[in-house]
Amino acid sequence: MTSIRPHGGALVNRVVVGTEREELLNLARDSKAIALNTWTLSDLDLIAVGAFSPLTGFLNEQDYHSVVKSMRLADGTVWSIPITLAVEDDMVAGLSIGDKVSLIGEDDGEIYGLLDIESIYTVDQKVEAQNVFKTTDLEHPGVSKLLARPATYVGGPITVLNRPQPEKFGEFYFDPADTRKIFAGKGWRTVVGFQTRNPVHRAHEYIQKCAMEVVDALFLNPLVGETKSDDVPANVRMKSYLALLENYYPDDRTFLGVFPAAMRYAGPREAIFHAMVRKNYGCTHFIVGRDHAGVGDYYGTYEAQEIFSNFSAEELDIIPLFFEHSFFCKKCGNMASSKTCPHPSDDHMTLSGTKVRALLRDGQCPPPEFTRPEVAQILIEGMTQEVTA
Ligand code: ADX
Repeated sequence: MTSIRPHGGALVNRVVVGTEREELLNLARDSKAIALNTWTLSDLDLIAVGAFSPLTGFLNEQDYHSVVKSMRLADGTVWSIPITLAVEDDMVAGLSIGDKVSLIGEDDGEIYGLLDIESIYTVDQKVEAQNVFKTTDLEHPGVSKLLARPATYVGGPITVLNRPQPEKFGEFYFDPADTRKIFAGKGWRTVVGFQTRNPVHRAHEYIQKCAMEVVDALFLNPLVGETKSDDVPANVRMKSYLALLENYYPDDRTFLGVFPAAMRYAGPREAIFHAMVRKNYGCTHFIVGRDHAGVGDYYGTYEAQEIFSNFSAEELDIIPLFFEHSFFCKKCGNMASSKTCPHPSDDHMTLSGTKVRALLRDGQCPPPEFTRPEVAQILIEGMTQEVTA
């Protein structure tokens, strides 16, 4: 096993199997039910498999307030994003502390798990938005999601009786216990985690490979849960990652596995959360580049790096690797950043996301200094399918 300890000390496992599962399923069938949407269902599963260790359930009131206010659970453990279960008012009226309720899929009615209600509490979501997202602006995709939810939350430990099944790319779903075993089996002592919600462009590749020069391996861990509608869909991205890995990465030093969580777009706070989760998957290092998990102009370019200084190295227990904004420099003739390139920005090749999307939509490949042609081709096909769908 890799020597890295899970966050909080132990990998949580709340998935129940065998006869205990049968008994709990019977109990769940006779219990009141709370419906979970895709987002909360993914949170439930990630808690159950230990990706969100040390969480054992949806946050109770004390932990919630502590996380929102000070980025720590009530016991002081670093935790920056509230993982909560919001419940409609008409449902809340029938719930009491001490109840065991079943957690069912909103779309399929399937029983996924059980929740032991420890607390029922109504929150000020504007305060949550301001603290977590640093804004209450409804244009922010995370804030609009948050404020659209009911303001009463139920908290307590969960158990999972049925796992949600991936529709596609099932072979790239690994639980933290799996990735830990796999990394150890490959003899990797140091593994750098890379979070992305985008296709891997040359700048991403550059910072990954800079990191790979100093660690044993790369865990490419794209987020494939809910994202905003103008992000490239996960199935297109997955195809692009496979093409990139096949052509440009050493097979024995890279591992692709998905992170089936929803994207919060919480910038700095989400960077801390992403790092803690990757520690649970067995990473010793984690890449934080420019505007990590950001959206629009809500966060400073390097705020997601600066936030790490609020915590000691011991309590983080994963090494963040910070990277400056990277680009292709025509004078240098290679990828660089302001740390390594002396030339003015006129020599730098920079393309906005909007410009790249416009090129792809017209069936044109962005320059190879920006995106590998194999990746561009897949993105163009993805765009065309989207338009004709
Ligand atoms: S994120 O929302 O998942 O963070 P994205 O997939 O664009 O977005 O970024 C993945 C990682 O690469 C993040 O750590 C981000 O900071 C970093 N990154 C993206 N583009 C650049 C760039 N041009 N230079 C340096 N780091 C970058």
